Amino acid sequence: MACDLLIVGGEGDLALRKLYPALYSLWVSDCLGPDTRVFAMARRAEEQDVFLARVREWFDLRPKAQPFEEGAWQSFTARLSYHSADATCAEDLNAFCAQHLQDRARDLVVYLATPPSIFGPVCQALRDAGIVAANTRIVVEKPLGEDRESYLEINRQLTDIFDEAQVYRIDHYLGKEPVQNLLALRFANTFLEPLWNNHYIDNVQISVAESIGVSGRWDFYDAAGAMRDMVQNHLLQLLCLLAMEPPARLEAEAVRNEKLKVLTCLRPMDEASVRDDVVLGQYTAGAIDGQPVPGYCQEEGASRSTTETFVALKAHVDNWRWAGIPFYLRTGKRLQSRFSEIVVEFKQVPHSIFPPQPGLNTPNRLIIRLQPDETISLELMNKVAGLDVAAPLRAVALDLSFPEENPAGAAPDAYQRLLLDVIRENPTLFVRSDEVEEAWKWVDLIQDVWARNGKQPETYTAGSWGPSSAIALIARDGRRWRHEQ
Ligand code: BG6
Repeated sequence: MACDLLIVGGEGDLALRKLYPALYSLWVSDCLGPDTRVFAMARRAEEQDVFLARVREWFDLRPKAQPFEEGAWQSFTARLSYHSADATCAEDLNAFCAQHLQDRARDLVVYLATPPSIFGPVCQALRDAGIVAANTRIVVEKPLGEDRESYLEINRQLTDIFDEAQVYRIDHYLGKEPVQNLLALRFANTFLEPLWNNHYIDNVQISVAESIGVSGRWDFYDAAGAMRDMVQNHLLQLLCLLAMEPPARLEAEAVRNEKLKVLTCLRPMDEASVRDDVVLGQYTAGAIDGQPVPGYCQEEGASRSTTETFVALKAHVDNWRWAGIPFYLRTGKRLQSRFSEIVVEFKQVPHSIFPPQPGLNTPNRLIIRLQPDETISLELMNKVAGLDVAAPLRAVALDLSFPEENPAGAAPDAYQRLLLDVIRENPTLFVRSDEVEEAWKWVDLIQDVWARNGKQPETYTAGSWGPSSAIALIARDGRRWRHEQ
């Protein structure tokens, strides 16, 4: 199917960093139709060659650099054009449309790589310019509101013009390869399912640690904080995929229905649970990789603030499968290193027949690493070969990610996968409106307590693993974060 992509905010950070490199990789891998067209739209008057030079600059910075090929670049950029226009203005869009979008048999994907404050005006202008049709899809990305109410308003502006089925809400964590592999692991194998419940699992840990700071966007970040920026979306989506029931089919509505059920089962937080089960932190000056870094309130453009740059919390999914099992979530900026992982920790054997020895009580763990490397491993106890009567055991990791078949960097980038899914009209990895709303409902309860009592983040030194209370949060339950063991 012939498809056009219109990227509104076509000169912004998201477009330059993520969208063009992903589209280029899709182009090189022959995943885009040969007559695909990509229109970059922004207000700045700019010549095509200046624009392409800016796009090119970002290519070498791609984390998963697909080798740059001059020939592929030339053919790709022959499909990519820059258009100076105000996308909130129907006249501008009319003029663009008259010139480029005459053939409405072609699918059109409009990517709003802009702040949500202009989603509504852009959608109206698209409608007024006659661009909205049954084969138009619209892609949006967080921040989708700062609470449930503001989300509903943003969503109303989108769904006044588009049907829910035409709206693709990106959570780029769902596009990461190991996250999709988690679905395969859970639902294409029989051995895990009987164990995947509170009889055999002891706890689940989801950590998304970043060593970067606020990356020059202090104002944006300060209004959000780690709870809105990371927990409300990425971490809760990961929790949903881990905790959901098997969907009847690998189809968008079936998967989303199951994720929604998990969100509705999240135990609501109150004053006491926010006090006991939520830890907030804010980094102070420190060092990462031997380099000094400023504290959050000394970052460029910063002022005094109580915004959290770190959150750790204990959540519960109150249903038959997960009753009593804690889900520990944590995320933060300027931590010691960048890593994201999900750890499913199984219960100890009920009775050990082996002589006491160090490490004997290491639980079996399934570890899904999202970054920096993308791996899945299962930690099992194994006998050390030899004649020793003490039968020494040690934990070994069974690598389930087959690095020989999937060498580092071979997995597609999340945006590659997600853009292709929008083009193919497959919304399975996109978040439905009721999911976003339900996630906000849960987060709002926590934010309401902060609003009443004031946010009081503890400080932690940049380059550490966050405030000591985050360690105490899990230690109180007799457990430890995996990387501290
Ligand atoms: C974004 C957040 O959604 O995710 C950023 O707004 C964060 O603050 C980023 O740095 C992390 O994404 P990734 O893919 O680098 O883990």
